[in-house]
Amino acid sequence: MDGTSLILGIETSCDETAAAVVRRWPDGRGEIVSNVVRSQLAEHAVFGGVVPELAARAHVAHLDRIIRAALDEAGVEFSDLSAIAATAGPGLIGGVLVGLTTAKAIAAATGKPLIAVNHLEAHALTARLTDGVQFPYLMLLVSGGHSQFVLVEGVGRHTLWGTTIDDALGEAFDKAAKLLGLGYPGGPEVERWAAKGDETRFALPRPLLREKRLDFSFSGLKTALRLAAESVAPVSDTDIADLCASFQKAVTDIVAARSAAALERFGNAFPDVTPRFVVAGGVAANEAIGAALRAVAEQAGAELIVPPPALCTDNGAMVAWAGAERFALGATDGFDVAARPRWPLADTPLERAS
Ligand code: KG4
Ligand code: ZN
Repeated sequence: MDGTSLILGIETSCDETAAAVVRRWPDGRGEIVSNVVRSQLAEHAVFGGVVPELAARAHVAHLDRIIRAALDEAGVEFSDLSAIAATAGPGLIGGVLVGLTTAKAIAAATGKPLIAVNHLEAHALTARLTDGVQFPYLMLLVSGGHSQFVLVEGVGRHTLWGTTIDDALGEAFDKAAKLLGLGYPGGPEVERWAAKGDETRFALPRPLLREKRLDFSFSGLKTALRLAAESVAPVSDTDIADLCASFQKAVTDIVAARSAAALERFGNAFPDVTPRFVVAGGVAANEAIGAALRAVAEQAGAELIVPPPALCTDNGAMVAWAGAERFALGATDGFDVAARPRWPLADTPLERAS
């Protein structure tokens, strides 16, 4: 199993219909041969969030074409592939079923092995594709659906160090934007308004900041933001900018403090290793949060790795790569593997595979 492999990856767990072809060289290096993503943003924007049923239908409508485009761009045929990988969860179950079932059909028709990929593991392993990061490392995943610190010690070896007890960070940005009458997705909108605002004007809480644990909580902040907005209603553009800036500052402080604590824990757990800190997920695109994380990493003597935004957000290459890493270790799955709406990253042992 130590030859070069060529893996097709399929991602349909949220609102991106994506397929990619990735090569894994015998020395463990990865190469993206093609990476095609169709975002459904326009379909969902009018509803202010992802509508699961619409998402599943759009995946059905577009996935075949996206897979074909990924193969064409790579200049390969199904027969050239080593295996077919698809996200099997966690995610919106209708969409996951579309991608996983398509992967099973391709695998059955071509006789190629199937690899069921955990979407979170795909995010977690992306830094090895882009930057060849060695195990172990600490990952902060901050997206619309997840806010987690994960210790990544190997393929299928992940330990959850902290998570959100209510909203994900991207979700908190989206809700803040909605509350202030801004567009969807909210993160970029809030960031744009925050750039013009006064971050000291509204005193917003930093939930759990003083606690030792590495968990997040953003719902109290959301309530505080609503009360602050109500206190100055009707809100002017200046108010919106100041509210966005104050909100962004609060979440940046929270993420920075938690990251510092997580890196300290990493340092204690691996005293002989230069700490490596990988940040993934759509929120990693936020400049203020990025700057704060750079400062935290520098302070801790850690190396900060942030894959390019297109690979931090949902895409097929990360799924193909996770598939390639598992394939290299001999892990493939049977056709009875199920789509899972929930699937903790800690539950991805290689022995799961048949
Ligand atoms: O990883 P992602 O593209 O999709 C998944 O959730 O899987 O993340 C999308 C989330 C959205 O909640 C969006 O508002 C947030 O990332 N986001 C941002 C920024 N760009 C995207 N949040 C804060 N600042 C940004 N610049
Ligand atoms: Zn994702």
